[in-house]
Amino acid sequence: MARILVTGCAGFIGSWIAETLIARGSVVCGLDNFETGKRANIAHLLSGSASGRFEFIECDLRDPGAAARACQGVDIIFHQAALPSVPRSVKDPRTSHTANIDGTFNLLEGARAAGVQRIVYAASSSAYGNQAGFPRVETMLPMPIAPYPVQKVTGELYMQSYWQVYGLETVCLRYFNIFGPRQVPDSPYSGVMARFILQMMRGERPTIFGDGHHARDFTYIENAVSANLLALEAPAEKVAGRVFNVACGQSHTLNHIFRILADLLDFKQPPVYAPPRAGDIRMSLADISAAREAFGYDPQVGLEEGLRRTVAWYREQFALASPQPVEKGNCAC
Ligand code: UD1
Repeated sequence: MARILVTGCAGFIGSWIAETLIARGSVVCGLDNFETGKRANIAHLLSGSASGRFEFIECDLRDPGAAARACQGVDIIFHQAALPSVPRSVKDPRTSHTANIDGTFNLLEGARAAGVQRIVYAASSSAYGNQAGFPRVETMLPMPIAPYPVQKVTGELYMQSYWQVYGLETVCLRYFNIFGPRQVPDSPYSGVMARFILQMMRGERPTIFGDGHHARDFTYIENAVSANLLALEAPAEKVAGRVFNVACGQSHTLNHIFRILADLLDFKQPPVYAPPRAGDIRMSLADISAAREAFGYDPQVGLEEGLRRTVAWYREQFALASPQPVEKGNCAC
């Protein structure tokens, strides 16, 4: 059986990939440094029925020796470890540079030395920047704006180089705003969906940066996980050395997202509008036909269903974190 390494396994996307692989019968080794990952995201994998099929290594890919050791005996890698967020990279480019470029390079070097067969890499749709032309097609030249997309594009170029020079099968998946359960909601660098949901649940007015017409091709986590598993199984001649958009092929403005969430959460107040963030792109919309043709990617969960599931999960977490006092007269005892 293939030995699979998931980097960033305690993060939002990595934990979903690890969990799905284990549920399908794979044995998974997960790696994280907990810089943004959460122990709670893998607690269920370390105990219970999954525990025999999950091994965890705490390490930082900035350390070349640790990266090389993590690759020993591994056949396949899902490389999700990264310091995400455009504004974080604008504020502190060096820290995200070391995590996203040095970490990726160290992993590639470890993988090359260990004879790893394939790496599926978490690339970013922010690579397209603000150039003209929608939907985004993989043949467009990258035009990254902020340090974060520069780092992610550098990772893609390294992936393609290691395929061409060393024959390491690398597949780059350009994620378009993945959202869903487990996304961190309470950091200044949190993704917009998680942030808005938590703020509305707390009765706080969310801030929309810009005029609300900024739009994204928001993609529910299950769609992104399915793209990863399909990219793992696809024949090398279809995917190795290539870049693919992973999205839904529909763009939604922040005003629209705000309205759907306000309905789902019965939130009655208006948003606060603030100036756009430095380095933000205005719009994203993907052409997903390359992934469809190369490995049969077909997103199954649409925006509204994804948001319903996401809101239900945060509500459950919120209720667990702040138990309500039992009202008099409601007690069944
Ligand atoms: C997101 C990902 C990034 C990924 C990229 C492409 C996160 C934190 N970032 O970047 O890793 O590479 O998609 O898939 O998941 N906004 C508000 N109010 C807020 C927060 C954000 O209006 O409180 C706006 C932003 O200004 C932006 C949009 O919402 O216009 C999306 O922002 P964000 O969720 O941070 O994602 P991206 O920057 O698009």
